[in-house]
Amino acid sequence: MSEAYVLDGKAIADGVIEEVASGTRALVARGVKPGLATVLVGADPASQVYVGAKGKAAESCGFYSVQHTLPANTGEAELLALVASLNADPAVHGILVQLPLPGHVNAPRVLESIDPRKDVDGFHPVNVGLLSIGEMGRALIPCTPAGAMIMIDKACEALGATLAGKEAVIIGRSNIVGKPMAQLMLSRNCTVTIAHSRTRDLPEVAQRADILVAAVGQPEMVRGSWVKPGAIVIDVGINRVPGEGLDDAGKPKTRLVGDVAYAEAARVAGAVTPVPGGVGRMTIAMLMANTLEAAKRAAGA
Ligand code: GUN
Repeated sequence: MSEAYVLDGKAIADGVIEEVASGTRALVARGVKPGLATVLVGADPASQVYVGAKGKAAESCGFYSVQHTLPANTGEAELLALVASLNADPAVHGILVQLPLPGHVNAPRVLESIDPRKDVDGFHPVNVGLLSIGEMGRALIPCTPAGAMIMIDKACEALGATLAGKEAVIIGRSNIVGKPMAQLMLSRNCTVTIAHSRTRDLPEVAQRADILVAAVGQPEMVRGSWVKPGAIVIDVGINRVPGEGLDDAGKPKTRLVGDVAYAEAARVAGAVTPVPGGVGRMTIAMLMANTLEAAKRAAGA
């Protein structure tokens, strides 16, 4: 059996960014510049990196981009007031409040205060509902599953496969990935199973999958023996695990692995996403795509 087709997240994400930049130029020519506002509360280093990367991507797409950085002790009322001002700002089409928020803030209350039309994360219950009733043209879809879906389409193209009628198994039932991923696969006429930590005989369930999506946050949990020969395997996990030796500063090295044992899976699958360089590259690209989409809808374009 030959090795699986490797889905290159960087190349696919770069293609999405190019399309967004070109769509932005067309919208700007009509007098509308897409705007993305990010909100970061506190100084969590990982969140700072993510929010910085989102701002940079927004600028590279030709958006108006603004970052609001607030101290960790910011009160909920102040945060709600900031969101209200961004809701009312016609230059802002997308609002992203970086998670996690500090413990004293009611995160669902803040996310639900975002105008659903500007909710480029797709976390607002209105967008969750629109996705679940199949109103894709009105919903904003969470970025990671939307990006995974594009990779699945690329895999189908490469393998000459079609999705309708296929068995899709999603391991993980989070609101951010597992559940919206299931809705997307269902909208593409797959037969969908959502497996999770209480699923009986998970390897057997996974082996049914023509499309297997792993989104559990367990390093290399999905083994090669769980993969049906020729399946499309999408690994959403990003887990940092101990590596070998010491880095330049004398600290133990770490490395990133997915939820799938990559080398094993690649020997069996038809197509597979690597970690790093797979689905992770797609999330920010889809955030840009959602922001352009929100701006186009606001402009009636
Ligand atoms: N924190 C980690 N991932 C995300 C994301 O996709 N959106 C937001 N808002 N916060 C996050």
